[in-house]
Amino acid sequence: MACIRGLGWMILILSAWLYRSGSVLKNVLLTKTRLPVGYAANADYTSDCQYLGPGEAQEDPFNSLAYCEDTGFWEHRDSDGKTSSRLVLFSCDPNRKSWNTVMGPLRDPNPRGALWVYAPTQSGQPASKPQRITLQDYPEDHDFHPLGFEAWPSYGGNASNLYVINHARRRTVIEQFLIRPSEPTVATHVRTISSLFFVAPNGLALTSPDSFYVTNDHLFTRRWPIIGTFVPLIESILGLPLAFVSHITLNPPHSHKGAIAKHKFAASFLPFPNGVAISEDGKRVAVALSSLAQVRFFERNPQTNSLKQNLEVVRLPFTPDNVRFTPSIEGPRGSEDLIVGGHPHFPSLSLLAKGAKDVHSGSWVVSIVPKVKGRLYENNGGKAFDGEALVSTCDYVDDGPTYTLKTLFQSDGSPQGFATATTGIRDPETGVLYISGLYDPHGALVCTPKKP
Ligand SMILES: *[C@@H]1O[C@H](CO)[C@@H](O)[C@H](O)[C@H]1NC(C)=O
Repeated sequence: MACIRGLGWMILILSAWLYRSGSVLKNVLLTKTRLPVGYAANADYTSDCQYLGPGEAQEDPFNSLAYCEDTGFWEHRDSDGKTSSRLVLFSCDPNRKSWNTVMGPLRDPNPRGALWVYAPTQSGQPASKPQRITLQDYPEDHDFHPLGFEAWPSYGGNASNLYVINHARRRTVIEQFLIRPSEPTVATHVRTISSLFFVAPNGLALTSPDSFYVTNDHLFTRRWPIIGTFVPLIESILGLPLAFVSHITLNPPHSHKGAIAKHKFAASFLPFPNGVAISEDGKRVAVALSSLAQVRFFERNPQTNSLKQNLEVVRLPFTPDNVRFTPSIEGPRGSEDLIVGGHPHFPSLSLLAKGAKDVHSGSWVVSIVPKVKGRLYENNGGKAFDGEALVSTCDYVDDGPTYTLKTLFQSDGSPQGFATATTGIRDPETGVLYISGLYDPHGALVCTPKKP
C-alpha cells in the first residue's frame, strides 16, 4: 500500500513537473538539438575562433588549460575609475572527470585545478598564450577545485580581491586571494572562508571588495552518504525549489571574529540556482536556474542586498550555467546585455561527467538584449528574432516585451567544435568573445568578430 501510494505521489509530482517544465524536457532532455560544428555571431567560426588550451595533444594534461568552469574579466582602472585594460581569468580543472561535486563522480580530489590569466592581443601584435597563475602561501595539504569566481577591479594599480569557489574534499569553501597588476601570474592566498550556509556554492558575484552573493545550487548534495547518489538528481530533475542565494559580508582578514561578519538569505526556494551576476548600476541581479532552463532577474536593494523577484523571467532552449552582464551593442544606449552560457543537451553532459568517451555535448551562448522601443527587426531571415543564428532560439522559446535573444555562439561539441560552454564574456571595447568549456579539453575559446 505504502508502495502504491509512493508511486501515486511520484506520478503526481512528475505530471505536475511535466506540465510546468514540459518545454525544458523537450528541449534539453529528450531531443538533441542539431547544432552546427561551430557558429559565432558576426564571425567565421573556422578562421575567427581559436582554442586557448592545447587540447588532447597536450604533453602534460594535468598542467594545461582544460575543462574550465568560469571565465571573467579582471579590470584595471585608473584612479578615477576609467578602465584602461582588461585581463581575462579562467578557472579550470583537468581532473574534473575524477572530482565533480555537482555532477559526480567523487573519486580523486588530489590533482589540483588552476587559475589562468590571459592578456588579450593588442592589434598588430602576436597572440600571447594564457599563463597559469601560481598560488602563493596556499596551504600545502588543501585541495583546489575552482568553480565560479570574481575579481574586484584594480584601481591605480592596487591589489584586487579575488574570490574563488573551491570544491575541496570535505566541503565547498571560498578562497580569498590578492592579485596585483604588477605580477598577474601570482595570486596570494589570504584565507579560506567556510560556513554552514555554504551547502553547495556554485557561482558568486561581488557587491564590494569584501561582500558577495553566492548561489547554492542544491540543498541535497552528492557529498551525502547513500542518499547523495540519487537525491540531488531528483532535486535537479524535478526542479525542486530547495536551494538559495546568500549574501555574505566579510570581516577584515585576521579578524578575531572569524571571516564572515554577516550572512543573509537574499533569495530562497529556488531550483538549481547556478550562475549569478550584478548589473553595473547595482540595481539588478540575474540568477540562472539550470533545471528550469530560465534566467530570473531580481531587483536589488543596494542598501540591504535583499532581492525582489519582480523583473523578467527569461526562458532559454538550454540549461543555463553562468551569467555575466556586459554593455549592450544592439540595445538602447547605456543598457546592458546579459550573456548566458549553457548546455543544450543535459544527458550528454552527464555522460561526459561520468567519463564516457565519444560523447559530444554541445554549447550555446546567448545574449539577453534589452529591446529598443519601436525598432523593427529586419533581416531576420523570416524569424521574429535571432534570425542570423544557424539554429535560432526563436524556434524554441519566446522573447519578451522588454528583451530579445541573440545567439552569440553555438556548437555541437564535436572535436572540431567546442563542448559544454559554461560562461561567455564579451570585451566591451573589441567585441571579442571568450567562452569557457566545462569538459572541453581545450578549456576555452576566443572568437574575434569581423569589423562591422
Ligand atoms: C583598491 O582600491 C579600491 C578603490 O579605492 C578599493 O575599493 C579596494 O579595496 C582596494 N583594494 C585593496 C585590496 O585594498
